[in-house]
Amino acid sequence: MCGIFGTIGKRDNALSLVVEGLKKLEYRGYDSWGVTADVDGELFIDKHVGKISTVGTSRFEGIKSNMAVGHSRWATHGGVTDINAHPHFSHDRKVAVVHNGIIENYHEIREELGRDKFISETDTEVIPQLISHYLKTMEFKEAVLEATRRLKGRYAIVALHVGDHQLIAARRGSPLIVGVGNGEYFLASDIPAFLEYTQDVMYLNDNEMVVVNDHVEFINIETGELVEKRLINIDWKAESAEKGEYDHYMLKEIMEQKDTIHRAINQDSEEIMEIVKAIQAARGCFFSGCGTAGKVCMVGEYFFSIVADRHVNYAPASEFPIYHHFLKPESLLVVVSQSGETADVLEAMEVAKKKGTKVLSLINVGSSTIARQSDYSLLINAGPEKAVASTKAATSQMALLLLIAYAVNGELQEGRRVLAEVAGKINDMLNPRFLNYIKSVAEAIQKHENAYIIGKAQNYPIALEAAIKIQEVSYVHAEGFAAGELKHGPIALVTEGTPCISLIANDEVKDDILNNTIELKARGAHIIGIAPEKHEVFDDWIKVPDVGVASPLVNIIPIQLLAYYISICRGLDPDMPRNLAKSVTVK
Ligand code: M6R
Repeated sequence: MCGIFGTIGKRDNALSLVVEGLKKLEYRGYDSWGVTADVDGELFIDKHVGKISTVGTSRFEGIKSNMAVGHSRWATHGGVTDINAHPHFSHDRKVAVVHNGIIENYHEIREELGRDKFISETDTEVIPQLISHYLKTMEFKEAVLEATRRLKGRYAIVALHVGDHQLIAARRGSPLIVGVGNGEYFLASDIPAFLEYTQDVMYLNDNEMVVVNDHVEFINIETGELVEKRLINIDWKAESAEKGEYDHYMLKEIMEQKDTIHRAINQDSEEIMEIVKAIQAARGCFFSGCGTAGKVCMVGEYFFSIVADRHVNYAPASEFPIYHHFLKPESLLVVVSQSGETADVLEAMEVAKKKGTKVLSLINVGSSTIARQSDYSLLINAGPEKAVASTKAATSQMALLLLIAYAVNGELQEGRRVLAEVAGKINDMLNPRFLNYIKSVAEAIQKHENAYIIGKAQNYPIALEAAIKIQEVSYVHAEGFAAGELKHGPIALVTEGTPCISLIANDEVKDDILNNTIELKARGAHIIGIAPEKHEVFDDWIKVPDVGVASPLVNIIPIQLLAYYISICRGLDPDMPRNLAKSVTVK
């Protein structure tokens, strides 16, 4: 949530560099943007409502500075206005700050410093004001240190002080990474922002501050002591974070599923077996995640039951803390997260750790906080996922959970064989004819305000995931149900022509869900069947391969494409849906 990017170094076009870097982080928040720099000893600030992607490359041409900071916002405190956009600055316009997170005690600090000094409705504005207050008696570095010690809540900040040739950043709970280039440094919420300049990074941990000028100095905020850091090389290519030949990241990432399943299952057998041992030894195994990752956990619950004969408990990460009553040192918490930065998941981990419970994470961003704070962590290796709607990460997460379920059952090789076959079939599915057919189905659905999706067994969570996909990118009101639950209430919603999607697999529940589909049809529903075989109840049939227990991995693909094409038909931007951000770093 919110993208931060700053740079200091050899180039004098830092403002333009910041704008281009922020464009690569726009998926983190896109309701307003802003940049700041020290230009000839004055604080230059430009901030506006709207998307950073609309800012032309020439906007800052001729404004020379080799140190600048910018921000792309997802509003929390204060509406979407130019004044509330970041950077925020002190009343004397000497200190500017960009911030990602929430300052819980901003009210108290604002009262203390004097309300009349403040011009925005944000929590962030207290930070530059506080730094400015301490600057009366201290140097910049000490002032930022003192200010951060006063802040309660979660934050990643970058501060700039006019006349001081250094950027100072600090974090607690929100991501911030230092990119180390040749004679230049970058501070960013995520790696793609600086990938074209460097693949070398240093991680800032919680409660640490970094002072960046012609070198970097890491400091523990609580003790004030220096912290040693290692330089780490990230093996992501800049091109993998670009759209390439596609109009949208979402479509690019859907198409990448031709390869990503292979990468997910290509795990080191020893590492998998270490995790298997932890799962087998656990007395009480919990799965947790948010949104799509949460639905993946639910699919995992079914995989573990069907393949490994093992019971696991799922709870959305935002609900997980209440389960602390059941946590023990012998329990295991398995968290799933694409970004590895989701605040609710981090809180679930905190709760677990307090009880001595070990944490295993399945993550896409290896450098993320969740990956680094887990006892065991497996990377899904899907490559950068930038569209707000999670697609390739979800199928990779499901593949890895299924592989682990097989391994827990002593059948790792069989799991690999099954999943390699699934990957091949997904490759065959994603052909132009298939895409065109789905587009035609999407054209019909997009005219409706409501759509319902039903699934059973491991396809029940896919019905819930389908609803998220359609809601978030097309704004059609979509809801997913367990097929058997329809007759207990939801079927009252169905009227003549209501689009209803039925997710079917060749499994033991096939006849049951077909009966539920027939019940929908009898109430006038327009049935879109996603199934390996045709059935007379379908008005539209989207054929998917028969892959046995792995059916969620193939049934989700047409749903992702439907959501994408409905969004396009409605003239929307599927990559940047309203009110959302890719990485949700606030509770
Ligand atoms: O980065 P995470 O996997 O932890 O993110 C979790 C959710 O915020 C995410 O899956 C969200 O629901 C997506 N927008 C769904 O497409």
